[in-house]
Amino acid sequence: MEKKTFYISTPIYYPSSNLHIGHTYCTVAADAMARFKRLQGYDVMFLTGTDEHGQKLQRIADENGVKPIEYVDIIVDGVKKLWATMEISYDDFIRTTEPRHMKRVQNIFMKMYEKGDIYKSSYEGLYCTPCESFWTETQLVDGCCPDCGRPVEKMKEEAYFFKLSKYQDKLIDLFKNNPEFLEPESRRNEMIKFCEQGLEDLCISRSTFDWGIPVPIDEKHVIYVWLDALTNYITALGYSEDDEKYKKYWPVDIHLVGKEIVRFHTIIWPAMLMSIDEPLPKKVFGHGWILLEGGKMSKSRGNIVDPVVLIEKYGVDALKYFLLREYSFGSDGVFTNEALLNRINSDLANDLGNLVSRTVSMIEKYDGGVIPEPAVKADPDDDLIAVATGAANKVEELMNKLNYSVALDEIWAIVRRTNKYIDETTPWILAKNEADKGRLDTVMYNLAESIRIVSVLILPFMHHTSSEIWKQLGIPEGEGTGWEDTFKWGVLKVGTKVEKGPALFPRIDIEKELEALCAGQAPKEEPKAAKKEEKKEEPEEKGEITIDDFDKVELKVGEIIACEKHPKADKLLVSQVKIGEETRQIVSGVAKYYSPDDMIGKKVVVVANLKPVKLRGELSQGMILFADGADGGLEFVQTTAPSGADVK
Ligand code: MSP
Repeated sequence: MEKKTFYISTPIYYPSSNLHIGHTYCTVAADAMARFKRLQGYDVMFLTGTDEHGQKLQRIADENGVKPIEYVDIIVDGVKKLWATMEISYDDFIRTTEPRHMKRVQNIFMKMYEKGDIYKSSYEGLYCTPCESFWTETQLVDGCCPDCGRPVEKMKEEAYFFKLSKYQDKLIDLFKNNPEFLEPESRRNEMIKFCEQGLEDLCISRSTFDWGIPVPIDEKHVIYVWLDALTNYITALGYSEDDEKYKKYWPVDIHLVGKEIVRFHTIIWPAMLMSIDEPLPKKVFGHGWILLEGGKMSKSRGNIVDPVVLIEKYGVDALKYFLLREYSFGSDGVFTNEALLNRINSDLANDLGNLVSRTVSMIEKYDGGVIPEPAVKADPDDDLIAVATGAANKVEELMNKLNYSVALDEIWAIVRRTNKYIDETTPWILAKNEADKGRLDTVMYNLAESIRIVSVLILPFMHHTSSEIWKQLGIPEGEGTGWEDTFKWGVLKVGTKVEKGPALFPRIDIEKELEALCAGQAPKEEPKAAKKEEKKEEPEEKGEITIDDFDKVELKVGEIIACEKHPKADKLLVSQVKIGEETRQIVSGVAKYYSPDDMIGKKVVVVANLKPVKLRGELSQGMILFADGADGGLEFVQTTAPSGADVK
């Protein structure tokens, strides 16, 4: 019998710079869903890729002195390496610069054109001549180009347009009649409102730059981003050239997209599909964003957002688990290292890790390391069995709603119930009395069997942990590790030899770890993906900020008038810093580089409006700035300006 198919996609990422933890979020979610459906026996197609054309990428490449393709090749290589590190199980990776995509986009353009849905007109906007860019009124900064700050002028450019307005009513019907088409529901209401305000036709070509797919009927123009990007979901399946895969997997089951691109996926994309008479996606899910405290990464707060660093430190399973358990998928959430470490300790080290290690140790101690035959049933058994075998249905229902967080909590309900079962059955007391051996054996069997079910259910989210559990319980892969085995009890073979292994998730001393992160010990830069990027003197990608963002930071000259070692932390120094009339206490993670005596008397630059924090019990009211020294140390940012002076 042919397997049922399941097609899931992520957005295709802009290869303008290396990806961060926010980008990995959607891909991790898509990966878990793809693995979940494979576990359930589906024939899965999981697509991701990169969106490589457009004026912005052409400009970045120019700035780096390379051809656009050379620039994107390097970044895309880094993206693929990141997905390999994160063990993302995609089935295809589409690049919009590949000939297979370009040819098929041109075919799609022609189909829309022949349908009468594309016409030539002119695009009017505010134009910055040196940057060769059109801007909208709202994008301008003080009425000038947001990129170079120079004045803009009204300009007209010839362009091709797609008749989006023609599909307005059909789109409103789509939202109203197919509630499952766009989720969460709140985003649906937004889109209906947007359509009801009236849709304008969409500009789909440009002639002021050439980094794009040529318009097949007019080589002066290139196809403008969204027609090029959105069509990847069908060009990757061979649409218009080799339709076998397309027929097999389209329409897509789920397009996972970030909330800010829901509009493109639920208005423009369906309208394009309507134009070429193809079926619409079954579902578009708009997920929330992972934000950082204060909006951006801050080493002084110890917030690392480089996924590679986090994986190196805590493992890929822990990071994937955290991302999907901590945040409700449809909503925004704030990333902190503290939240990550707390999750690792409580859910992974304490709840799951301890359960596995206690069970294996007890089987070794009481049964010579061999899973015993259950003999005597008693009271809590039925409840444990009901919880463990009843979880899969609930997990399936939650996964189909993309409710990853509650699905994981449902699996953890088994973990918690099993831990409670140990407390209820007190095996260490049963072990004291030979007459209770039959009961003890049943308890040991039930513990191991419950863990087996957990190990299968976590497979889509953390497959290394599943394998490690199977190793410790002596289960060969494929024996009781299928989806259907999660509904059954008594699958684990009596007589299987268990073998204690290392702790699944070693406990982390959170305070120490955060302190190390604060002191700048842990952050390790991901090797830059782009060779040319290394030319940039910035050590890390922080994204652009406006002058208004910069204005929020109050930098002042301060004089360090006293300094001592932190009483509880070797890496920290506690300084008294005179800023004008005021004296503030500031804690810095620089004891590795400077003694208190080195600090005293220095006139330095201080971030004066940083929210005060306590670092290992000592109040810190600001941050002293240091520069990375040539020898790997840290250098003061010194000045002779008077204490209290503004640094601007
Ligand atoms: N190239 C377009 C998508 C075209 S799809 C046909 C694009 N690329 S992007 O690189 O800017 O963004 C890709 C995805 O990353 C988007 O879904 C976006 O929401 C997501 N994220 C970027 N930063 C994010 C967070 N901080 N948190 C969660 N997702 C975020 O848009």
